[in-house]
Amino acid sequence: MAIQFDSFYAKPFLRENDLKGLTAQIQAAHTAIHDRSGLGNDFLGWLTLPEDYDREEFARIKAAAAKIRQDTDILIVIGIGGSYLGARAAIEFVKGQYYNALRGDAPEIYFAGNSISGAALHDIMALCKGKRVSVNIISKSGTTTEPAVAFRVLRKYLEEQYGEAEAAGRIYCTTDRARGTLKKLADEKGYECFVIPDDVGGRFSVLTAVGLLPIAAAGIDIDALMAGAAAAAKEYSVADVENNPCYTYAALRNAFYRKGKTIELLACYEPRFTMMAEWFKQLFGESEGKDHKGLFPASVIFSTDLHSMGQFVQDGSRLMFETVVSFEQTDTDMTIESDEQDGDGLNFLAGKTLSYVNRKAFEGTVLAHTDGGVPNLVIRVDRPDAENLGRLIVFFEKACAISGYLLGVNPFDQPGVESYKKNMFALLGKPGYESQREELEKRLGR
Ligand code: PA5
Repeated sequence: MAIQFDSFYAKPFLRENDLKGLTAQIQAAHTAIHDRSGLGNDFLGWLTLPEDYDREEFARIKAAAAKIRQDTDILIVIGIGGSYLGARAAIEFVKGQYYNALRGDAPEIYFAGNSISGAALHDIMALCKGKRVSVNIISKSGTTTEPAVAFRVLRKYLEEQYGEAEAAGRIYCTTDRARGTLKKLADEKGYECFVIPDDVGGRFSVLTAVGLLPIAAAGIDIDALMAGAAAAAKEYSVADVENNPCYTYAALRNAFYRKGKTIELLACYEPRFTMMAEWFKQLFGESEGKDHKGLFPASVIFSTDLHSMGQFVQDGSRLMFETVVSFEQTDTDMTIESDEQDGDGLNFLAGKTLSYVNRKAFEGTVLAHTDGGVPNLVIRVDRPDAENLGRLIVFFEKACAISGYLLGVNPFDQPGVESYKKNMFALLGKPGYESQREELEKRLGR
């Protein structure tokens, strides 16, 4: 089965024409992507990556991961946004949230440079004491403030610990092929470099070295990951919306948007999906949220969040539909035992596995939320392994591109992200921003 898309529970909210009415637009979006004739067509490298990836670099990634696994206790992966979320999401999806504690002989992996928090960076540095450390700095532009600051701190730490030459052998740089300050520094210092292709934007880059090096360092089979991605790329290249589950999903989420359901709540019943949901939110939020349009991507982990957000989903303002990612199996499970006293009254569950109970929670919730006016779409994944991760990544990336074209926006740019940066640089006194500074200080009431 691998991945199945199921719109059964959404039927009460849909009319036959919802899907039919979008057929022509989906086909146009499909053509724009495959003919490379749509908005942002110079950023379509992700489309063919699962088959066309650079085999020589792939082998170097595996060799670097093997070296890291052999000479490193802690790998610190520095990056933000698309240069961060995919790797972390993938590691937790396959290995679970407690990877660092349960990793066996693989290195611990921590993520830095994804905030400007001094406390967070300080804590990571504290973890490094007495450990053999390597760093993978990931930045396409090479100039993003958060990772650049973290890298300055960690590079100095490594050079103090190991001396410049040995530190250079512990720093892996994932950046542009030829441009940028990071590439220049890497060449000067002799760091091993991996490439973020020109035609792959940050949030679509998890299947490049951006994701692959940390994922391989965690001991995940990146051949299986790419095989799953390649199978999905083939499956989702069918132009016909009704025979392409990825396109059906894109069409239905667009249909709900048109009906005023402006929030997509991505739900999953496995905590290991938490960071995948963060990756999903960036992918869709940064791709669709333009020109005052777009579905707002939100996420919940159930049943955890049924005890915090459940009330709102059931009964609050009716703005959302839910997309549930449901695993058919997990690699490990627990069975509830019978108890002679039955003081907790749980013997009716004796002999049942927790995944069975979780499934009943899912079924009960789907029905309750549907009764409450929240349509549910379901993406069924047979198990959270590397191959299915590759499939799911491609499913969401392709659906996201189609969704952007259905909205009439460029799914591959992110002009809005620059606004806060300009203000921050002006307020920090960065050379070149002097004129804005005074005006912004006034607006802050100073
Ligand atoms: O998806 C994107 O383009 C962004 O999230 C970027 O990945 C993020 O801003 C980091 O950029 P860079 O890799 O240039 O440091």
